[in-house]
Amino acid sequence: MNALRLSLLFLLFSSLTQAQQWFYPELKPLAAPELAPFDFGVASGDPLPDAVVIWTKLYIESDQQELVKWEIASDTLLKNLVQTGEVYTNGTTAFTVKVDVKNLEPGTTYFYRFQHKGKYSPIGRTRTASQSGERLRLAVVSCADYQGGYFNAFGDIAKQKNLDAVLHLGDYIYEYGVWRGGRKRMMKRRYREHIPDKTCTELRDYRTRYGQYRLDAQLRECHRLHPFIVIWDDHEIANNASVDGAESRNSDWEGRKKTAKQAYFEWMPIRENPERSIVRSFSFGNLAELWMLDGRLAGRSAQATGPNDPALNSPDRHMLGEQQTDWLLNGMKNSQARWKIVGNQVVFSQLNDSKVFDRRPSVRMDRWDGYPAERQHIFDFIYKNDLKNIVVVTGDVHTSWAFELTGDPADPEVYNRKTGKGVVGAEFVTPSITSFNFDEFVPKFVGAEARRRFKKKKNNPHLRYVDLNHHGYLLLTLTPEKAQSDWYFVKRKDRVDDRVKLCASRHIMFDGKEIEK
Ligand SMILES: [Fe+2]
Repeated sequence: MNALRLSLLFLLFSSLTQAQQWFYPELKPLAAPELAPFDFGVASGDPLPDAVVIWTKLYIESDQQELVKWEIASDTLLKNLVQTGEVYTNGTTAFTVKVDVKNLEPGTTYFYRFQHKGKYSPIGRTRTASQSGERLRLAVVSCADYQGGYFNAFGDIAKQKNLDAVLHLGDYIYEYGVWRGGRKRMMKRRYREHIPDKTCTELRDYRTRYGQYRLDAQLRECHRLHPFIVIWDDHEIANNASVDGAESRNSDWEGRKKTAKQAYFEWMPIRENPERSIVRSFSFGNLAELWMLDGRLAGRSAQATGPNDPALNSPDRHMLGEQQTDWLLNGMKNSQARWKIVGNQVVFSQLNDSKVFDRRPSVRMDRWDGYPAERQHIFDFIYKNDLKNIVVVTGDVHTSWAFELTGDPADPEVYNRKTGKGVVGAEFVTPSITSFNFDEFVPKFVGAEARRRFKKKKNNPHLRYVDLNHHGYLLLTLTPEKAQSDWYFVKRKDRVDDRVKLCASRHIMFDGKEIEK
């Protein structure tokens, strides 16, 4: 073979492997050819009063840069164009496209689409942050394991009218390969299989995994119709991640974090920033301010080994780290908003699960219960500055909860369940979209007993609601008088099915003392 042919072959081979970095032929059978090249749909996010990020991706084999045009309008037919623009994309961002559209009007619904070589994307709908102060409606979600079932909860949120945004609190993807050889009970509930069939460690793995999730029609439709405000939890990187490691870290942990962050920022409609930080806040006029936290990669110390670990109570151990904690606390102190909403990965409230998980303290050590000194510092600041009307929203535990937010539910000097003394707000926890919870791990009667033990006043006096078996989402509605959480549960997740039911509601009143019973 002569040198020319050799170098031509080399060029062909290297461009093929290059293109594999963003084309993922193994996803083609799942793709929606009628949408090509916008197979992954459109999305929007991070709404400000005057700006919103719009997103799409080209599913093409090109190794050139490609021109994509965009337009945004005030009407569904895109007749009343508000802005248009052009942007180049290429393989370095896997042909994703992100535009931070500015100079928009607050609390306004917009419609947008992209165009590439004469082909149009589906028309997306989005909404800037309302400043009117009347009402805010946020769907709150977390933990969508593709293998654990169909995303009916996303399908239902897509149909919700008058939503301001969807808060995604993490575990947008799971990094695992295809489950094999687990418990029989679990294996029976593996309804779909992950692509690629390996734990994500490389950029191509994470990109392909996001691609697979985004080819789910219900998730894609949910993105098309509502702006998302997202944060990662651990599974966007690796299970039980912290700054310095994870349950199954590979040797190059810094590299893996960087890779996982890159894929996340490529695929999520999150506003770009040089540090690829997810820590940011959103203002909804006088009604609410929202702080989105990073309890994983910004400042988290490694998990303690259990309740007897001598390091557990050390003030040197952090969930958020000093910088982020100061930013949050000063932000809440200086905020004029009636409701102070905190979007957080893991359960913030004290949860006495010693009667349920006594042999698995690691479950507790990953939550705020595993970082008691930093939590106490936060409560000390809250009490000292007389902050109230705080609503923490949380995911991670795949189950549904409502707590009164208090510095110490076990200490009558701090908290009184009857009078509401020491209550500074509420924590509402959203169930998983599909990820396993109690009835998928243990027989129903075991779950029922666990629920009874959790609910015992002696164990958790500040607990106002718990459900351990259902999947779905919660809808947070804020008005000047009231913050209400409504839990919507899906009927099934072993196939696409649109039956969803409102199953529970809890609320707190503004400056009120306790959650309605
Ligand atoms: Fe999860």
